[in-house]
Amino acid sequence: MSKQGTTHQYDVIIVGSGGAGLSLALSLANHLKIAVLAKSDLHDASTYYAQGGVAAVLDQADSIQQHIDDTMIAGVQLCELDAVAQTVNGGQASVDFLLQHGVSFTLDQNQQLHLTREGGHSQRRIIHAADATGKAISTTLVERARQQSNIHIFENFVAIDMITQHKLGHTDQTDRALGLYALDIDHDCVHTFLAPFTALACGGAMKAYLYTSNPDIATGDGIAMAYRAGCRVANMEFNQFHPTCLYHPQARSFLITEAMRGEGAYLRLPNGERFMLRFDERAELAPRDIVARAIDFEIKRLGIRHVWLDITHKSETFIKEHFPTLYARLLELGIDITQDMIPVVPAAHYTCGGVMVDEHSQTDLAGLYAIGETSYTGLHGSNRMASNSLLECFVYGMSAAEHIQQQFTADFQYPYIPAWDTSQVKDADEDVVILQNWDELRATMWNYVGIVRTNKRLERALHRIEMLKSEINEYYQDYHVSKNLIELRNLVLVSEMIVRCAMHRKESRGLHYTLDYPELSEQLYKTVLSPLDTQVQLQVVNPTLTTALSV
Ligand code: FAD
Ligand code: SIN
Repeated sequence: MSKQGTTHQYDVIIVGSGGAGLSLALSLANHLKIAVLAKSDLHDASTYYAQGGVAAVLDQADSIQQHIDDTMIAGVQLCELDAVAQTVNGGQASVDFLLQHGVSFTLDQNQQLHLTREGGHSQRRIIHAADATGKAISTTLVERARQQSNIHIFENFVAIDMITQHKLGHTDQTDRALGLYALDIDHDCVHTFLAPFTALACGGAMKAYLYTSNPDIATGDGIAMAYRAGCRVANMEFNQFHPTCLYHPQARSFLITEAMRGEGAYLRLPNGERFMLRFDERAELAPRDIVARAIDFEIKRLGIRHVWLDITHKSETFIKEHFPTLYARLLELGIDITQDMIPVVPAAHYTCGGVMVDEHSQTDLAGLYAIGETSYTGLHGSNRMASNSLLECFVYGMSAAEHIQQQFTADFQYPYIPAWDTSQVKDADEDVVILQNWDELRATMWNYVGIVRTNKRLERALHRIEMLKSEINEYYQDYHVSKNLIELRNLVLVSEMIVRCAMHRKESRGLHYTLDYPELSEQLYKTVLSPLDTQVQLQVVNPTLTTALSV
């Protein structure tokens, strides 16, 4: 790394160009000067790959109360009611936001938004753009963002760490976020971004697992950065495994949308048996944790590599109309879904825990917001209901925008910040160290911290992760930063958080299932990690308030 980067001054810095980041950016663009940073191309985000859709109460037969109830049931009593109510009530405004920006959703015969169904939802309430909803949302919002003169876009920029008052040594002052350092990949130098407000909308962390539906960007950067800046993180043990990812050597983690089961597809064993009814009366439309665990159980019981998803009993016209993208993609791979069953397995899909925020997405650190999959709002409890996550991105993105606008004053004093110091580091001699650690970490997480856990497996995982963490941190101190190194450093920290939270959840609930504690605990709590405390804190969750509970 030879060149020194530039210092940039903005009103708001947004890290992330998914649904969360862009809904915040577009809601502020008429008033404030905004920088949007993305690790690669703006579309390269989980948002782009979303298939099923966005949940919202739009049908006469549906109600806000039913959507709230379904969410609470799916989250197995750990959802925080205020967050659930805020999100569900924000459904119509979110849909309006998307329509106003020109997102084109599938319509029914009456030219109304077509509503599909997914697991856990008692009603049809998912708006969608056939089976490529994320692409429709992402391309539209990205296009709008590019048209806004107040939004400056920085692609191929990797945020490294927050700059805060306390990190600058001003510990006598109240801590607040002042901006961040980011690696400019194309020019191999580190820039300084300063602003009174920063939002981390970096998506989730499911690249921690060997098999995942997530794009490569999902390395938990926002969670790790916020934690290192002093923010609390909660419920990291709840990682959602999507039941139906394609099992195929050329497309290992390709998702097969739950909407396919919503529209009637069955899960079958090799002998043709529809097995889900043995596990739950809601069968294929039980919440995801139940379906993923049932598939995992059957795969292990029978010693098979995958189960089958079958929609062949629907007409060819119906299949092609509802699932055009999946039909075309699977045909390329030699699977004609109008006639052939689809081989599927569960894969890591969604990070339910994250950076603790209030109703405005404000974190523990003044001036720092976390939105979307990076955040923990309380909405998902121990298991996220399908299509609630995009909704959460829009509701909390708009709420953060309102709050930032209220707080904004033009008198922010941009501080002097020392440039990124490269005087003590050298060029990495062996990138193989990063690759080796990356592979080991993801295999450890998959094998020991997956769908079914035990105390012993978690202990083994923690032991290995601690060793990897110390090696990676040493490497980080000694060598120039690179994208891979930044991501690995974040991923190992987030993996450690997942294991530590999992070790403190001595029950099986939602997405956390352990053979050592197969029952539900009577106490309802969230696991909270604070950078100021080496212990995991357990905080009581009840419908509206959270208070400390002794460990
Ligand atoms: P993302 O959309 O993941 O965006 C993250 C952004 O942060 C990216 O721009 C990335 O470049 C940037 N970033 C990350 N780290 C850094 C860094 N250090 N520096 C700079 N930039 C950074 N949810 C639903 O509700 N409905 C669905 O149908 C649905 N289907 C899904 C299908 C798939 C295959 C997947 C993977 C997820 C799906 N989900 C769905 C979940 C949902 O898509 C995500 O939770 C949601 O899109 C997250 O949005 P986000 O804005 O928080 O993050
Ligand atoms: C899917 O389409 O199955 C994904 C929906 C989601 O993750 O919410």
